[in-house]
Amino acid sequence: MNVRRKQEWDTSRYERNARFVSQLGSPLIEILAPKADERILDLGCGDGFLTKQIEQAGARVVGIDTSENLLSAARERGLFVCFMDAQNLEFREEFDAVFSNAALHWMLDADGVLAGVARALKKGGRFVGEFGGHGNVAAILSALFGALKLNGFDEGFDNPWFFPTVDEYAKKLELHGFRVNEIALHPRPTPLPTGMKGWLDTFATPMLSAAGSEKRQEVLDEAIALLAPCLRDGDGNWTADYVRLRFAAVIA
Ligand code: BEZ
Repeated sequence: MNVRRKQEWDTSRYERNARFVSQLGSPLIEILAPKADERILDLGCGDGFLTKQIEQAGARVVGIDTSENLLSAARERGLFVCFMDAQNLEFREEFDAVFSNAALHWMLDADGVLAGVARALKKGGRFVGEFGGHGNVAAILSALFGALKLNGFDEGFDNPWFFPTVDEYAKKLELHGFRVNEIALHPRPTPLPTGMKGWLDTFATPMLSAAGSEKRQEVLDEAIALLAPCLRDGDGNWTADYVRLRFAAVIA
């Protein structure tokens, strides 16, 4: 079953259920170490929470995203952002650095992304990012597949996200001309402020829409019931089984 449908972003739902995604990305800016007047591209800038921090360090930032809702929110922060698919970048040797937090797992054409980033960077430019790595949200994904199957959708499932291993992604980076300075998986159990329902409502659109509107609620309830014994604690708090892949590379 193709569950790779388009994700939809609602800015107020994102603010309520998922602000932690960009907040937890702040330490990545220390690795990026933006300098005054550097030109930096933020891939999948979303509502610009981290893009703004890069700008505040004195850099000239361009953010790109494919959600008009999130881009509008970024413009309200006074940022320069545009609608562009990071799998088809149109820049040539323009940036000192490219940055990306929690976005690359949405882009299934990883080679397209890396070829575009390699072209967009000036010689010696750096690429710093973090996204879902191998094993990310494995319990959540399994419960969603299980819930779909229990509701009669049993044709086999494709992962709608790209969660590579360290070896897989390091090889891709090297193939596209990068020297990898740092790359590792970081298991990061992440408390969910609005529980599993908030997370699924915000992020599982590709899979829930596969169930159609008539079965959506059953699939959602079933997935939550399957997850409760492993991701909900005795006080009713939920934690997502996040695993981040963090890397820093330089284009030769
Ligand atoms: C993540 O940030 O790891 C993530 C978000 C949505 C779907 C899958 C993973």
